[in-house]
Order: sequence, then C-alpha cells, then structure tokens
Amino acid sequence: MASTSHASWVVPVLDRAAVNRWRGAWDEVMAGFLPGADGCEAALLAVAEAVCGGAPGRVLDLGGGPGVFAERMAVRWPGAEVGLVDLDPVLLALAAAGTAGRVGVHRADLGAAWSEAVADGGPFDLLTTVMTIHYLPAEQALAFYRAARAALRPGGLLVVADLMPEPGLDGVTARLHPAADEAVAGMAWTRWWDGLRTHEPLRPLMRQRQAILGGRVPAEFTPSVDWHRHAARAAGFGEAGVVWRWGAHAALAAVA
Ligand SMILES: C[S@@+](CC[C@H](N)C(=O)[O-])C[C@H]1O[C@@H](n2cnc3c(N)ncnc32)[C@H](O)[C@@H]1O
Repeated sequence: MASTSHASWVVPVLDRAAVNRWRGAWDEVMAGFLPGADGCEAALLAVAEAVCGGAPGRVLDLGGGPGVFAERMAVRWPGAEVGLVDLDPVLLALAAAGTAGRVGVHRADLGAAWSEAVADGGPFDLLTTVMTIHYLPAEQALAFYRAARAALRPGGLLVVADLMPEPGLDGVTARLHPAADEAVAGMAWTRWWDGLRTHEPLRPLMRQRQAILGGRVPAEFTPSVDWHRHAARAAGFGEAGVVWRWGAHAALAAVA
C-alpha cells in the first residue's frame, strides 16, 4: 500500500527492536485467545491463494492491531500491496514502526465508513479480519459485511475469523469455550498493556488511546456461524461458508 494515513496522530520515534519484541509478545497473547491459531492462518492463506489464483494483489487486514499478520502476508506475497486498518493509535504506531513501510497503516473505525479512510481505496482482492468482528454490535457487523463487499473486486475474498459457534453443538461448545487458556491469555493481555504504559515515548499515544477508546467496550457480539453466513449473503456475497473450525472458533470465507 503506497500510503500510510496517520496524519491525524503523532507517531513517536520508537526503538524498532523493542517494538518487534512487543509485537512478538502480542502474537503469543493472541494465540491464547484463538485456539489453533496457526491452523486458522494456514487455512486462510491457502483459501486466499486458491480463490485469487495465486498471490493476491491488494490486501487489507481489518482490525489488524500491531500488524503481525499483515506483515506475514506481505512477506508471503512480496508483490502484494498489504495494508491494515485499526482504530487504536498505539497499535497503529507499533504496526507502522514494526513493518517499516511494508504495510500501509490506516486509522478508521470498522463500525463507521472505514473504506473511505483507506487511501486509494478498493477494489481489493483480499480482506481479512481476525478476532475483531465481535467488537461490533449486530447492526455495525451487518454494515461491515456490506462495506467489505463494496470494497472487493468481483471474485475477491473476505475471510472473517472469530468466535462463531456451530448451531446444534451448544453442549459441546459450552464445554470447549471459554478454554482454560483464555483466562491465562486475559492476564497476559493485561500485562502486555501494563508493560507498554511504562514506555515514556508512548505516553502521548496512550493518552490519545484513552480519549478514543476510553468509553468503548467491545460488543462481544458472537452469533452462530449461520448468522455470519446470512449476513454475507445479504450483503451480496455469493459463496459463503466455513473454511476452518476449532471448537467455537471458525473462519468464514465469502466470495464477492
Ligand atoms: C483482539 S484484537 C485482534 C488483532 C489482530 N487481528 C490479531 O489477530 O492480532 C482486535 C483488534 O480490533 C481492533 N478494533 C476493535 N474495534 C475496532 C473498530 N471499531 N474499528 C477498528 N478497529 C477495531 C482493536 O484495536 C484490535 O487491534
């Protein structure tokens, strides 16, 4: 992605080694929230290459946090323009510093008109969103599917990975989720943020983060996979279905 739309926030000079330690630790924390994360990622990448007929050309990771997955896509597909969108100025600063221009970094709210904020917007070959859509309430999640459909080229692919239980398996799901690892991941997440708060150069961004996110709580909207399939079809996607599952977590692929 040619541009990085962070004109509205101050990006501090950050030590790249420290940034990449935080990003690596973030990845480990996230793996605690998403059981079988490696398998999920492998399935997502394989489906993307199959649908796009090889490496996708334009890729956007929505709710991409500090950019660890976006960077892995940029490494795997060196000719692709890979970007990410997030709302959190601290995570965006880590993404920008850690990926050093390899990944375009865009600040936007996925619950609003996010595609307009992406410089040089659409059409994209691949949109991904991992462990993020549950932050949006139902109406915004429906609008998210519509905006994703509009941002993709015909035949392009959206992959949404999150907690989306299988209907008819309520008892099994209840035994699997929340996994014991999730409590540990929750503590690791708190420690991760506590560590960042002590880093002096990040203080202005931490204040900005507080101003933007202070009053927000994740919607924790986690309907069944059928809800997502119907939302995708209602938004105009053609094929839509599960390409990976581990317990209550799944990745839904939808073809524009
Ligand atoms: C659980 S994290 C997952 C991050 C990344 N996808 C990963 O798997 O490492 C959820 C991400 O969604 C972002 N997010 C939450 N609500 C958002 C919104 N309304 N607009 C944009 N980003 C949002 C958060 O800032 C965070 O980076």
